[in-house]
Amino acid sequence: MNYQTISSEREGAAQIIRIERESKMNALNIQLLQEIGQEIGRLQDESGIRGIIITGSGSKAFAAGADIAEFAEFSPEKAKKMSADGHAVFNSIENSKIPVIAAVNGYSLGGGCELAMACHIRIASDNAKFGQPEVNLGVPPGYGGTQRLAQIIGKGRALELLISARTIDAETALQYGLVSQVVSFEDLLSTCKAYIEKLVAKSPAAIAEVIACMNALYSDQDGFDYEIDSFSNSFGSPDFKEGTSAFVEKRKPEYK
Ligand code: COA
Repeated sequence: MNYQTISSEREGAAQIIRIERESKMNALNIQLLQEIGQEIGRLQDESGIRGIIITGSGSKAFAAGADIAEFAEFSPEKAKKMSADGHAVFNSIENSKIPVIAAVNGYSLGGGCELAMACHIRIASDNAKFGQPEVNLGVPPGYGGTQRLAQIIGKGRALELLISARTIDAETALQYGLVSQVVSFEDLLSTCKAYIEKLVAKSPAAIAEVIACMNALYSDQDGFDYEIDSFSNSFGSPDFKEGTSAFVEKRKPEYK
């Protein structure tokens, strides 16, 4: 694919999507979000990919928010389309059947923090900084920040961060549960790639079901009913046959 604002390359079982706007702190303009959405969609049908990493180019920013220069003159109608289109892209990340890891390599502000929160797993470098500074600009977050921040770290802490617009460092993000691991900047990508290589030994179908069941919790479906169906339907799957046979035969499962 010929992208202008992102790059995407395969390394082993991992696909690395890199935001390529380093001179603009990897700010997320509309084209960039479209390209991420397109790439996430394309990867769903690629074979052999066990995890997707989203990261920023350079050492300063994962993404310092939506592109303020681009939207500064938008009318409410244009802003509505921008927000709705962004939500669709972020939802496609959240609903990806392949796990998506945000490798947060610096500033993760506004839309950047929202992008990281749409991913299934967040691993940060020790120079990472997180925040939702939108109220400084006269708007609330528009890419799901008011919802996902509360889902991930709880309403109390989320509201405090959203109201104060303050930025937190990687260690505080770890303490809040916003990220699951903090490593040095040098080790960030190798840690994410190693995480994905370990997933090769797990059932991709079952991982996809875990993601779908978890997302049912935050939908208008009954998550418990969804889980009963998901669990029982898995009993007819090749992965279930392989996983249980391998256990009984005392060998390692090989998932296709
Ligand atoms: N949108 C558009 N451009 C952005 C941007 C954004 N969200 N964040 C940074 N940039 C641009 C700057 O305008 C600057 O461009 P220029 O060189 O053409 O002037 C370039 O990226 C470098 O940023 P700069 O502010 O000079 O870097 P810094 O190290 O001094 O500060 C930040 C880094 C992240 C603290 C600062 O850029 C910032 O506060 N960004 C906006 C954060 C924000 O409010 N995000 C929410 C948006 S909804």
